Amino acid sequence: MEPTRPRPPGVLTLCLLLALCMHGPPSRASDTVSRDQPLSGGQRMVSQGGRFALGFFQPDVTAPDRWYLAIWYNKISKHTPVWIANRGRPISDPNSSKLTISEDGNMVLLDRLESPMWATNITRNISNSTVGVILDTGNFVLAPASNTTYFLWQSFDEPTNVWLPGAKLGWNKVTGHTTRIISWESAINPSPGYYTLEMDPDGSNQFVHRWNNSRFIGQRASGLALCLLEFLRWRHTLKLQ
Ligand SMILES: *[C@@H]1O[C@H](CO)[C@@H](O)[C@H](O)[C@H]1NC(C)=O
Ligand SMILES: *[C@@H]1O[C@H](CO)[C@@H](O)[C@H](O)[C@H]1NC(C)=O
Ligand SMILES: *[C@@H]1O[C@H](CO)[C@@H](O)[C@H](O)[C@H]1NC(C)=O
Ligand SMILES: *[C@@H]1O[C@H](CO)[C@@H](O)[C@H](O)[C@H]1NC(C)=O
Ligand SMILES: *[C@@H]1O[C@H](CO)[C@@H](O)[C@H](O)[C@H]1NC(C)=O
Ligand SMILES: *[C@@H]1O[C@H](CO)[C@@H](O)[C@H](O)[C@H]1NC(C)=O
Repeated sequence: MEPTRPRPPGVLTLCLLLALCMHGPPSRASDTVSRDQPLSGGQRMVSQGGRFALGFFQPDVTAPDRWYLAIWYNKISKHTPVWIANRGRPISDPNSSKLTISEDGNMVLLDRLESPMWATNITRNISNSTVGVILDTGNFVLAPASNTTYFLWQSFDEPTNVWLPGAKLGWNKVTGHTTRIISWESAINPSPGYYTLEMDPDGSNQFVHRWNNSRFIGQRASGLALCLLEFLRWRHTLKLQ
């Protein structure tokens, strides 16, 4: 057998190298928002491992004045939002709006009139030296700047229409609060829609699906329900194309 000889680089390889050089390394966006470093306009936050991005997005390109603060998969070129802050309250212009930390330490989305369109709304006594961090799990957290593993608030507790691994669905015995996921109103409107999914509050370990508040399926927590949700989400995504 002849040893394989090194081949001169093909045209394709050269083109690839050239393309890489022209683009340069991907610019490294910060994963953190703070009082000194608010997020505005076309800026994005990217989780440390590069899996998730957070920024402003527009689900309906025919409605230029409806923008949402969202988390999406950073490595999928099409925006596939997994969480939205201001679901029912779009902002009209991301350039004059910003996500920042308010004086009381809460994270807040301010529109161009500086009115809060969304906030973490923690009433506990927290200092204003807090930061918001987008994690590689897709969880967006508020934490003291001195210890970002101590979560004061997390988006996993307030999911929108997507469940991500690590997030808890269900009834919190301490707060009595039920975490449920709620579909979009339509493929281009992320306002809360008619379809919801939650753990059975009676503790039967079943998922409860509802349409317009009436129960329609009880399914063992077998993953089937989550598959169904994934399917619904992808259907939304397809409709957006
Ligand atoms: C925001 O500003 C950028 C850069 O100036 C501009 O290209 C973009 O069109 C603006 N976006 C909106 C929604 O006005
Ligand atoms: C903030 O929390 C308070 C008390 O829980 C509630 O009354 C208020 O509606 C909340 N505000 C927002 C913007 O969620
Ligand atoms: C909140 O913090 C301030 C200053 O750190 C302190 O003076 C105040 O007593 C605290 N309030 C509560 C309810 O813990
Ligand atoms: C925290 O808020 C106080 C006013 O309540 C302000 O003087 C101080 O500069 C703020 N700290 C930071 C880190 O922004
Ligand atoms: C940071 O917070 C985590 C989670 O609450 C805690 O386990 C850890 O001890 C804290 N680290 C410091 C330096 O306070
Ligand atoms: C949703 O439920 C309400 C109250 O039962 C009812 O009035 C309304 O017509 C329902 N909407 C749809 C679209 O089914």
